[in-house]
Amino acid sequence: MNQPVEGFSKRSKEEKIKWLAEQYTPQPEQTISLLKQYWSSDAQLQQLHDEFIENTLTNFYLPLGVAPNFLINGNLYAIPMAIEESSVVAAASKAAKFWLERGGFHAQVLGTEKIGQVHFLFFGDPRELSEFIEEIRPILRSDAQALTRNMEKRGGGITRIELRDKTSDIKGYYQLHCTFETLDAMGANFINSCLEQFASTLLREAAIYPKFSSMDPPLEVLMSILSNYVPDCLVRAEVSCPVAELGEESGISGADFARRMVQAVAIADCEPHRAVTHNKGIMNGVDAVVLATGNDFRAVEAGVHAYAARSGRYRSLSQAEVRDGRFRFWMDIPLALGTVGGLTGLHPLVGLAHEILQKPSAGELMQIVAVAGLAQNFAALRSLVTVGIQKGHMKMHLLNILNQLSATQKEKENLIEHFKTNTVTHNAVVKALEDHRAQK
Ligand code: MEV
Repeated sequence: MNQPVEGFSKRSKEEKIKWLAEQYTPQPEQTISLLKQYWSSDAQLQQLHDEFIENTLTNFYLPLGVAPNFLINGNLYAIPMAIEESSVVAAASKAAKFWLERGGFHAQVLGTEKIGQVHFLFFGDPRELSEFIEEIRPILRSDAQALTRNMEKRGGGITRIELRDKTSDIKGYYQLHCTFETLDAMGANFINSCLEQFASTLLREAAIYPKFSSMDPPLEVLMSILSNYVPDCLVRAEVSCPVAELGEESGISGADFARRMVQAVAIADCEPHRAVTHNKGIMNGVDAVVLATGNDFRAVEAGVHAYAARSGRYRSLSQAEVRDGRFRFWMDIPLALGTVGGLTGLHPLVGLAHEILQKPSAGELMQIVAVAGLAQNFAALRSLVTVGIQKGHMKMHLLNILNQLSATQKEKENLIEHFKTNTVTHNAVVKALEDHRAQK
């Protein structure tokens, strides 16, 4: 039986690997050499990666690809994407090319408000609490000055501090609901530091406030943390063109294609099972760029899905219409992103991704990411309402299947040729490779 381990984080990397390999894998020597195979030969680069997290053993590679030809607000971008799913970059590139010939993508930032909350318990008179918060509001701000000074110099900082009464949900539960402008930073550390300062000011001032000082129980702060639900940190991405310019799609007229696209979006809007998959397709594009640019994809995912459910039902993020002979396809999506701080200045490939994107501001990155999501959604729906998803998906997956079957380079070339005119399925590839090997 495996035993718990003491002081693991203090062991050297070699010791950690050896312990793990011996405790949990059947062939420790192979495990050790596999893990080491992924080390960088550049010791400094490896150390940088080792120091990102605790207990680093090795690096976990994801492909970094690029989808070129994205025309966004008149500027041409090549968008870096970090993702393992075979067809995503190809689909993005295809959608980019389609819209390049039809005026490109348009995007605009609709809001940049970030949110954080101090959650606390108070069992006294709510009106007195409200008066108290009014009185200490300037102190809350001035105590946070050391933290906010630099951000304020650049035009950002704390925008509002509101008292929210949540006692109808939980007895005695109130919040300081605070909003922030964090400019080009994602702002998590800035917001959390401000909130923790608010919490200590709140406690200190409550303890000396005459009406509360002998209150039992006293005002109690539970926690202070930013919210990843940022419905007012919002960006819109859209494409549109005359229906006549959509052209024929796999034997379907432009008008029929537009009608089927609009129907497909309407289904995702009213049917949660479909909405989740529809939005997952959007996140294929969003996450890949968020990851490549060193942003927090878990924060983005959590916020986006909460936004998709803001009406009380989980719905499509994107919308489509045909009006006055024009097809329009668009999406509003909350994205709290940063182009300074965090991994952006640390991970060399993240730095390169920002360079490729022409060193965007946070607002510009929001636009690029939203466009990548919309493009992905367009590409998926375009396949779904015409030839089906598997044709393109399996074509891109062919190499993975051939690699699983240990095909040689020559065999891969022959089979790629064969599948230019045949449908790719796992069984079909197995059979074709067997036939090919038998012929030799
Ligand atoms: C696959 O990763 C994404 C799709 O399922 C999205 C969709 O169904 O719209 C193709």
